[in-house]
Amino acid sequence: MSEEVTPVEIAKYAAARKAVEYVEDGMRLGLGTGSTAAKMVQLLGERVREEGLKVVGVPTSERTAALAREVGVPIATLDEVHWLDLTIDGADEFDPQFNLIKGGGGALLREKIVATASDRMIVITDVSKEVEHLGAFPLPIEVVRFGWQTTKALIEEALINLDVMDRVGTLRLDRDAPFLTDEGHHILDFHLRRIGNPRQLSLVLNQIPGVVENGLFIDICDVVIIGRGDGAVEVRDINNGIVESDRVEIGESDNIFRDLG
Ligand code: 5RP
Repeated sequence: MSEEVTPVEIAKYAAARKAVEYVEDGMRLGLGTGSTAAKMVQLLGERVREEGLKVVGVPTSERTAALAREVGVPIATLDEVHWLDLTIDGADEFDPQFNLIKGGGGALLREKIVATASDRMIVITDVSKEVEHLGAFPLPIEVVRFGWQTTKALIEEALINLDVMDRVGTLRLDRDAPFLTDEGHHILDFHLRRIGNPRQLSLVLNQIPGVVENGLFIDICDVVIIGRGDGAVEVRDINNGIVESDRVEIGESDNIFRDLG
């Protein structure tokens, strides 16, 4: 294992490795996007190659699709599979009710469609993503390109009447050009600092013409697996209130950090 591996990387790896234990033969899986989800896809590939595990994955981004192909996880489109047994994905923030902010990696639309089409969603994360109230992480809102500045103004106006601490929106850039999602839309990142009522905010945002989807995931996540820098993991299940602790041993042979950012 490289000496440059940080505690956060170990934490993400530990969470991903614990999550992959939930995958059973024959499952149809939603494959998330981001650095934590990438570790999960890599580990899933190991199980496919070494154990002959039979699964089919629906990737939530072109990036994840490319990685799945590379590591040998069979993939399909959501329309081919229709419904999924389990989605495993990362998050930018989660609160005590397992409400999430997602979309830091720009894949929130496909991520929300895939997670909603799953019997169960497991979020894999390091401790830094846990918050009492969502909103310190800027909320990504996916908007159509046509009239995006008007859409931004409409969002800002709607926020005046909502329980948020700030309402500064910025167009996400990819170097000097506006960022484009896999569906060809823009993303507005809204710095709200504190979201008092995530459910209400999500409903209001999705009524604004031009908004495709927002990064609030409400009542979608079932289990959060929190990894720590020493390989410890905590599994919290919101449906039965069970909290379990475990430890992931990270050996010298683990080469998971080598190829992934
Ligand atoms: C991508 C996401 C990611 O899950 C989120 O940004 C967390 O990423 P990472 O695992 O790299 O911290 O929502 O759209």
